[in-house]
Amino acid sequence: MALISKHEVVERRAFLLALLILVTVSIGGIVEIVPLFTIENTIERVKGVRPYSPLEQLGRDIYVREGCYVCHSQMIRPFRDEVERYGPYSLAAESMYDHPFQWGSKRTGPDLARVGGKYSNEWHVAHLVNPQSVVPESVMPPYPWLLERELDISDIRERLETLRIVGVPYTDEMIEKAVEDVKAQADPEADHEELLQRYPKAMVGDFDGQPDRLTEMDALIAYLQILGRMVDFTDVRPEDLAQ
Ligand code: HEC
Repeated sequence: MALISKHEVVERRAFLLALLILVTVSIGGIVEIVPLFTIENTIERVKGVRPYSPLEQLGRDIYVREGCYVCHSQMIRPFRDEVERYGPYSLAAESMYDHPFQWGSKRTGPDLARVGGKYSNEWHVAHLVNPQSVVPESVMPPYPWLLERELDISDIRERLETLRIVGVPYTDEMIEKAVEDVKAQADPEADHEELLQRYPKAMVGDFDGQPDRLTEMDALIAYLQILGRMVDFTDVRPEDLAQ
């Protein structure tokens, strides 16, 4: 009884009530927010995730330029139907070096987060030049100019340096050797040892079927072929990462 009458004191004074509500709510907020200041990164590091090789990065920039994200997502959600169709669900770490990320918001075509290694380079060339030649019912538009346009590598070092500013850990050596790495990755005859040390699992070879030319097609396919292949899901089980 006594407690109820004391409560009346608060309830009858709107200003005091508002002030006490504010204090109470702030406590809840502080308890949730303050611990986040003490951790450096909210993304769990996962073995295998590395910055894109310069050729893959150029391909990624073409992917963005051509607006592939308008029809394709790169984010497998943790639902059974998605995991059965596309493979292990996407981890935050897998897009930690993506600026801007390509999660997308619409799937006119399938998710591409794990398309790397699913098809041969020849399939990708045929599909990008004319999607209906390999998938007759496809509504994807053709991109034949990718096979014609020379790849512009003149500003690759600046591109990597810019990504370094936003937190992608490119080393001085990676930036120094960027042009050589682009050429080595697209040349099946080159020595790939250093490239693969810097960028493990990078797919090497002639991507566009024109061994004497370096085209935008080479870069885009090099990018598509690494998607989802950096993390080895036979040693990393997503369930083990959940805290
Ligand atoms: C208008 C929507 C649209 C756009 C834009 C588009 N696609 Fe597609 N894409 C599709 C559809 C639909 C399919 C499924 C049919 C097929 O395989 O062609 C597809 C399939 C694919 C596949 C095969 C995926 C799989 O797992 O079978 C790849 C790879 C792909 N697209 C890459 C690209 C790239 C790269 C771009 C940008 C240069 C792009 N797409 C732009 C609609 C689109």
